[in-house]
Amino acid sequence: MVVTPWEVKGKVDYQRLIKEFGTQPLTEDLLKRLERYTGSLHLQLDRQIFFSHRDLDAVLDLYEKGTKFVLYTGRGPSGPVHIGHLVPWIFTLHMQQKFNTRLYFQLTDDEKFLIDDSVDLKTTQHWAYENALDLVALGFKPEDTFIIYDTQDMDLLYDLTLEVAKRITYSTARSTFGFQDSTNIGWVYWPAIQAVPCFIHKKLTGENVPALIPAAIDQDPYWRVTRDIAQKLGYYKPAQIHCRFLPGLGAGGKMSASMPETSIFTKDSPEIVKKKIWNAFTGGKGTAAEQRKTGADPTICSIFQYYFFLFEQDKTKLAERERRCKCGEMLCGECKKDVAEKLGKFLEEHQKRREKAKDTIEQYHIKR
Ligand code: TYM
Repeated sequence: MVVTPWEVKGKVDYQRLIKEFGTQPLTEDLLKRLERYTGSLHLQLDRQIFFSHRDLDAVLDLYEKGTKFVLYTGRGPSGPVHIGHLVPWIFTLHMQQKFNTRLYFQLTDDEKFLIDDSVDLKTTQHWAYENALDLVALGFKPEDTFIIYDTQDMDLLYDLTLEVAKRITYSTARSTFGFQDSTNIGWVYWPAIQAVPCFIHKKLTGENVPALIPAAIDQDPYWRVTRDIAQKLGYYKPAQIHCRFLPGLGAGGKMSASMPETSIFTKDSPEIVKKKIWNAFTGGKGTAAEQRKTGADPTICSIFQYYFFLFEQDKTKLAERERRCKCGEMLCGECKKDVAEKLGKFLEEHQKRREKAKDTIEQYHIKR
């Protein structure tokens, strides 16, 4: 298993990551505390899609005493957004609505330029704009959502990146991120830039409040180095809430833009979606007759995961689908057809909202 901000490979063992990264599991107690503020548990909490955290308890303690928090998340724009990226953003929207708080959203066109030899800056800047449309299409409101485009907004970030970079040694950065002699020096400096939105709220408003970061667990190394230096700079340590990866449509592995055949992009047409779903890896058997007799295995099925993560909100219906799959009553074709329809509808709506977002996108750009 490899889980870094730039690569996720192999079967991800989430319990092992909690130990290796030194994070905390999301306990029943914490979920109950969250539920008190949110009314009912969000599907992604209830199904343990968000499974780990750092200092969520501390953020809630402060909240109970009257100190608010801000949300912070982001995207490295090297290509189109896939539905895996939407998983933490959907949860972020829920948290924003329930806690009535600001979101800072960073588009790291500089990061993607530095780490990927095959793209130039124009390309990552283009994708930053395109990816921002997907964020807006999810329903974030401009008055509470502040998008940072790194290459456009570096004047705002630069003094803070210097403060951060000065306090992280090369030795810490190398051991956290695995830098090699051949790593370009832009990349070595770059983690300071992902740290800065954790602290930007104070610069903009004068208010010193913690940041809570919803993201998949691959981003955790950034927060380790940021947490180490936050208090030295007079800020709260940023808190995190970590989610699992939505798998791709192949046999194992996360959905990843570098594998377009097994990823569903938000701009995919219904025909492409159907084709990708049709070719997806499932837990089915070699023949329909065998599957009717012995049933299939939803635990290894990529399609079942889409119901679990996104498309079946109703627990009873999800359990019924699982039962019918396991006993061979429902075959993969039916399940694939249903999910292609649900995905098609979801994407059709999303694409309409994405088009409309072109009229309002400027309102979200962070103001000085
Ligand atoms: P990036 O573009 O790799 O990923 C954007 C967000 O999507 C999450 N993610 C996934 N979540 C569920 N299932 C998947 N298959 C999946 N693939 C990716 C990532 O964890 C991330 O939350 N360096 C960052 C950009 C960034 C950022 C941030 C991300 C800047 N500041 C603060 C999170 C929080 C990047 O390249 O993300």
